[in-house]
Amino acid sequence: MDGIGSLEDVRLAFWQKLERAAAVASDPWHLPVLGTVDDGAPRLRTVVLRGFDPTTGRLWCHTDTRSPKVEQLGRSSQVSWLFYDREEKLQLRVRGTARVVTEGDLFEKAWAASEPRSRKCYLGPHAPSSLVAEPDPNLPEEFLGRDPTVEQTEPGRDRFAVIDCTPDAFDWLRLRHDGHTRAAFERDGDDWTGNWVAP
Ligand SMILES: Cc1cc2nc3c(=O)[nH]c(=O)nc-3n(C[C@H](O)[C@H](O)[C@H](O)COP(=O)(O)O)c2cc1C
Repeated sequence: MDGIGSLEDVRLAFWQKLERAAAVASDPWHLPVLGTVDDGAPRLRTVVLRGFDPTTGRLWCHTDTRSPKVEQLGRSSQVSWLFYDREEKLQLRVRGTARVVTEGDLFEKAWAASEPRSRKCYLGPHAPSSLVAEPDPNLPEEFLGRDPTVEQTEPGRDRFAVIDCTPDAFDWLRLRHDGHTRAAFERDGDDWTGNWVAP
């Protein structure tokens, strides 16, 4: 098949794309959908892909510890990620388990790397998804029109968390007018076993 290569070539290519997507805000895979399970029901939301570890395949995003997804992850660690690149016509689905990280090396690095304008989200007085009387950006008044300083973001640290996902399976789909291609990869210890799949 033209321009695709082996299953291992495919895996390495989307592995590289995930690494790029975590670093480059304009990459369409920078904004995946993350799915959690809430008493058996799927719950989806857009997140920012903040990191991908090419050694292990782990991927992560940041969130507010008070958000419903954190509670859901406390009850079920199962997650799915959905990526789509409209230009390249590439979909990637990831299945795995996630843990909510609020201390340690990954947490410290993630907090340190967060810009004040991103940390600002963690300064809101209300828990995300709580009811408010009127449209409310959930920010302290002083930061409505401007970003806080690094020092001013420190109270947000207690509400900051990394959702760190260990993948078990990847499902890759490339759309082409002359024939779509799909491949599935399952974790096999530290290795990955791939199979071509009917699109
Ligand atoms: C473009 C975009 C990026 C977002 N990134 C994040 C993110 O990285 N982390 C996050 O917790 N919420 C993010 N959100 C908000 C979530 O989609 C969601 O509304 C919020 O986290 C509440 O989710 P929950 O009620 O399921 O916990 C983002 C929303 C959009 C539209």
